[in-house]
Amino acid sequence: MPANPYQSIETGTPGRIGWRIHYFDEVGSTQKVAAELAEAGAAHGTVVIAERQSAGRGRMGRAWHSPPGLNLYQTIILRPTTPLAEVPRLSLVAGVAAAEALETVAPGLVALKWPNDLWLKGRKTGGIIAEAVTDPGRGLRCVLLGIGVNVNLTAEQIPDDLRGKATSVRIATGRPCDRIALEAALCNRLDSRYMEVQDHGFAAVRPAWEAYSALTGKRVTVIDASGRIAGTVRGLDAEGALMLEAESGPARILTGEVTVEGAYD
Ligand code: BTN
Repeated sequence: MPANPYQSIETGTPGRIGWRIHYFDEVGSTQKVAAELAEAGAAHGTVVIAERQSAGRGRMGRAWHSPPGLNLYQTIILRPTTPLAEVPRLSLVAGVAAAEALETVAPGLVALKWPNDLWLKGRKTGGIIAEAVTDPGRGLRCVLLGIGVNVNLTAEQIPDDLRGKATSVRIATGRPCDRIALEAALCNRLDSRYMEVQDHGFAAVRPAWEAYSALTGKRVTVIDASGRIAGTVRGLDAEGALMLEAESGPARILTGEVTVEGAYD
C-alpha cells in the first residue's frame, strides 16, 4: 500500500466515522475491499479510499467512471443497530452529509436529486450507493456506504456518454479542490448527521434533505421495474419515499430512476 495522504485526517477515535482510513492506489471497487474488511471485523466508521477503481460500480448495475488522481472514491463501513428497512434512509442521510461537505467547497451550488445523486449547478458530481450485508436469520450485519465524487475532473476528461450530464467541483467552481479537506468535511458531517439520526430518527435530517432537493416542485418521470409514471414532485415522506402528484393521483416512489423535465439543457 502507498503512503496514505488521508492519514492526517483520521480522527483515531474508534466508532466515529473516519476514525481509520485505509488507502489504496488501485482496487477493483472500494465496495469489495470494504466488504472484506467488514467480514474481518472492521469497526463502524472505517473508511476505504482508492486513488482509482478498475471496476467502480454505481446504482442500477452501472459502472462508475474512476480515473486516477482526480476524484474521491470511498466506502464507509457502517454498523447500524436499526433494521434492514432503514438502509435506504441511511443513504439519504449520507446525501445530506455529502451536500453539506460540498457546500464548503462550492457554496450555493449544491443540490440533491432523489434518491442519491449529488448535483452541482444541475449536473451530477457524485453518487451514493448503500449495500446491506445481512446474516441469514440475524438481520443486518453492516452497511457498505459507497460515495463517489468527481472533484478535480476537467471537462475534457468527462467520457462522451456522460458529457452534458456530469460535472465536478473543479468544473462547477472554476478552481481545483483539495480532496483531503473535502474528505475531512465529509467524515465530519456524516458522523454528525449519523448520530443525529440514531438519537432522533430520520425526521431530524429530513428538512435538511428537503432544503437541498433539486426536485421539489419539478415535473419528473420515474421509471422502475413496474413501469413509468410522470408527475410533479411534492417532497419526501417520513420514510424517505418521493411523493409525486401524478395525473392518476398521489404516488409514493420507493425506487426508480428519476428524470427531470428540462434537466441538462
Ligand atoms: C451512483 O450510481 O450514483 C452511485 C455511485 C457510487 C460510486 C462509488 S465510488 C466508491 C464506491 N465504490 C464503488 O464501486 N462504487 C462506490
